[in-house]
Amino acid sequence: MILNKKLIVANWKNHPNLPSDAVKFWNTAKRGALSLKKTELVVCPPMPFLALLARTLPPKKIFLGAQSSSAEEGGSWTGSIPASMIFEIGARYLLIGHSEERRLGLTDKDIGKRLAAALRAGLYAILCVGESARDTEGFFLSILEGQISSALSAIPRKFLDNLIIAYEPVWAIGKAEREAMNPRDLHETVIFIRKTLAAFVGGNPLPNTPILYGGSVGAHNAAHFISEGTAIGLLVGRGSLETTSFRELLASVDAIK
Ligand code: PGA
Repeated sequence: MILNKKLIVANWKNHPNLPSDAVKFWNTAKRGALSLKKTELVVCPPMPFLALLARTLPPKKIFLGAQSSSAEEGGSWTGSIPASMIFEIGARYLLIGHSEERRLGLTDKDIGKRLAAALRAGLYAILCVGESARDTEGFFLSILEGQISSALSAIPRKFLDNLIIAYEPVWAIGKAEREAMNPRDLHETVIFIRKTLAAFVGGNPLPNTPILYGGSVGAHNAAHFISEGTAIGLLVGRGSLETTSFRELLASVDAIK
């Protein structure tokens, strides 16, 4: 996938509780997206609101994504949410392997299966990777490498055009903006991820897979992760529901040359 715009993905997690509030946040996001020139916005609401918000999905600048899915397709799988159904509802993006799901027991094997199903369904799959802690010897790099290689091991190359990687170091999620990652360290990690991808898909120059950063992104630090950190976009959790500062965040990213 070659993105000619920056990408902001709003991960609402399990907020808000009421459908009426979800519609309010959605309307605000749609208004915020109207003025974007060089950025696209993806909103990932809680699953029960996805179909509701899809009814008023504008034709451009803003898209819907799901936060999770099942690997199973067709057949009798009580409780499963197939990627193909997510696509049919009108969503075009899907988060896969978020650390909060990994923490609840989602395995690398499940993630690989979900990824394959998502790509087959025609969704843009946002594979979330990230180490729990950093060490000075660089062992965290092998964690990243392992997460990427196991997720991609069963994916035919022709599907990789719809792959996006979200690098979300677990230690930087849910903190104050000042505790987010340093953009210089992010830049090095982006290069490492590209090299890891190249080992899989080949490529010289390195593959163009879009890489997002996530973890305590807010209006004050967002642009740095793109201009210095060389991420193509951002995965924003709590900050995406803080209406005024999220609009500032979008404007600051859109203003990057
Ligand atoms: P945060 O979450 O922006 O609230 O740190 C990011 C995420 O978990 O996707």
